[in-house]
Amino acid sequence: MSGKKKLFRFKEMETFSNVLEPVLSDIMDEEDTGVFKDHPMKGKWKSEFFKNENPLVLELGCGKGEYSVGMGRKFPNKNFLGIDIKGARIWRGAKTAIEEGLNNIGFLRSRIDFITSFFVEGEVDEIWITFPDPQKEGRRERKRLTSPMFIDRYRQILKKGGIVHLKTDSDDLYEYTMEQVEERGYGLIQETNDLYGTLVDQLDADTQEIMNIKTHYEGIFSAKGFKIKYIKFTIH
Ligand SMILES: C[S@@+](CC[C@H](N)C(=O)[O-])C[C@H]1O[C@@H](n2cnc3c(N)ncnc32)[C@H](O)[C@@H]1O
Repeated sequence: MSGKKKLFRFKEMETFSNVLEPVLSDIMDEEDTGVFKDHPMKGKWKSEFFKNENPLVLELGCGKGEYSVGMGRKFPNKNFLGIDIKGARIWRGAKTAIEEGLNNIGFLRSRIDFITSFFVEGEVDEIWITFPDPQKEGRRERKRLTSPMFIDRYRQILKKGGIVHLKTDSDDLYEYTMEQVEERGYGLIQETNDLYGTLVDQLDADTQEIMNIKTHYEGIFSAKGFKIKYIKFTIH
């Protein structure tokens, strides 16, 4: 995408009421001690952002937000919030939600690392992690969105019994996450290393429809012949 087009999108997104783009000083301690403070929206997503008390579902590393938009269309009585640091990608999902008049879909432009500055305990009902960057083994492993550091943060904001879904094309990330589930005693509900080859036909029609939402990255990796993996688990 050209720089000009990106700038246009960034500018247009400033006018979108369904996108929150915090500045770092909103959550960074003034003395820069490395301790993060609470964002004013923390604890108020339902009442102030979505203006209802419906359940809140997050899509982490949402990119263009295909899951947020797809599930938002299907479940008008739930709120969906896509989180990603890349503004030009978020723009796509936010624009679609506005064009279709879907008020139950929003986007937060932030690093997921700061997630506990944005949500209080139990504020989140469910989490989807859609095709996250696999990150290499070793020093980069902690950047994986299913690493202990991230899961411990999700635990602080997810309601008791709340479900985490991971959809990935990466064998490494699938195997790593399965190891984490076993080693750290998360509650495994369902898993497969070949979603469309095995599991999907056994699911009810609603769940099949959700699983068949294809994200941008899913399209790229499916076309290259990668099998899609899926893990559903709880973390309390
Ligand atoms: C491979 S892309 C997948 C995007 C989309 N879910 C899809 O399936 O098409 C991973 C996305 O995660 C975002 N991401 C990775 N780590 C992040 C972090 N720590 N905080 C915020 N966004 C992150 C990237 O900006 C990128 O858009």
